[in-house]
Amino acid sequence: MTLYNPMDLTGKTIVITGAASGIGKATAILLSKLNANLILLDINEKGLNDTKSQCKPDDFIGTVDLTDESAVETILKEAVSIRGKVNGFAHIAGIPSIAPIKAITKKEAQRILEINTLPALYLAKILSNKKYKAEESCSFVLISSVYANVGSSANVLYTMSKAAIQGITKSLAIEFAPKKIRVNCVAPGFIKTQMGEKINHFFDSEHDTLIESMHPLGLGTPEDIANSIAFLLSDASKWTTGAIFNIDGGFCAQ
Ligand SMILES: NC(=O)c1ccc[n+]([C@@H]2O[C@H](COP(=O)([O-])OP(=O)(O)OC[C@H]3O[C@@H](n4cnc5c(N)ncnc54)[C@H](O)[C@@H]3O)[C@@H](O)[C@H]2O)c1
Repeated sequence: MTLYNPMDLTGKTIVITGAASGIGKATAILLSKLNANLILLDINEKGLNDTKSQCKPDDFIGTVDLTDESAVETILKEAVSIRGKVNGFAHIAGIPSIAPIKAITKKEAQRILEINTLPALYLAKILSNKKYKAEESCSFVLISSVYANVGSSANVLYTMSKAAIQGITKSLAIEFAPKKIRVNCVAPGFIKTQMGEKINHFFDSEHDTLIESMHPLGLGTPEDIANSIAFLLSDASKWTTGAIFNIDGGFCAQ
């Protein structure tokens, strides 16, 4: 008897941004186990190669700065010519920003939007075009954060970029429903990755314990988030669109 797997991704081509590290890397490895064809994008070539070594040998890797919309389209054109038309994407790449309001600048505000938020718009624009989109089912997954739901000090730029992702999810879900493209969002709680390491120096030694105590189920892993992304990319979620999934060990339930 063949085992039934509702999250099987055989025959589906999926684009993942941020695939060189953390949640994006865990997602790539999981989707590969679910038999998806992958187009892996990131600015970090070394990390991408490491991820690819744990996926299928013919998966496509593209080293690209996501802030460059035309470079992203060029690389997707090449990837589609090799891997075939796309059934979905997960925009996972992102950066943190810790700064009190008195220290923020317009340049830094623009930078965080250009990486965390705006690629969601142009990936959706490019990959909903029939030049790139597969005929069959299509699903877009965007990554927000619990910090779009609750306030936190010195986090206003990151919060802005992740709250916008939730608005984009809902509006695109409605706009794309007639095209049978689903759009959903995952809002993770705290996951130990390189992102946390980049901002660790802002905090004292008790910060880790405090963060952990804010999650009733303890801290999560990149794989916990990858599982929910895989569900949303698969046909197991075919009646789900415009939804925001808090995958946060109970953080937002308090
Ligand atoms: N780790 C957490 O606790 C947490 C919590 C909530 C939300 N998130 C979100 O999850 C996503 C992944 O975070 P992570 O923790 O895995 O971080 P990470 O730092 O491990 O990975 C982020 C990836 O994005 C890539 N990237 C950054 N700027 C880029 C650019 N300009 N062009 C292309 N690639 C670029 C990096 O090279 C890196 O591989 C982010 O959007 C983050 O905001 C993370």
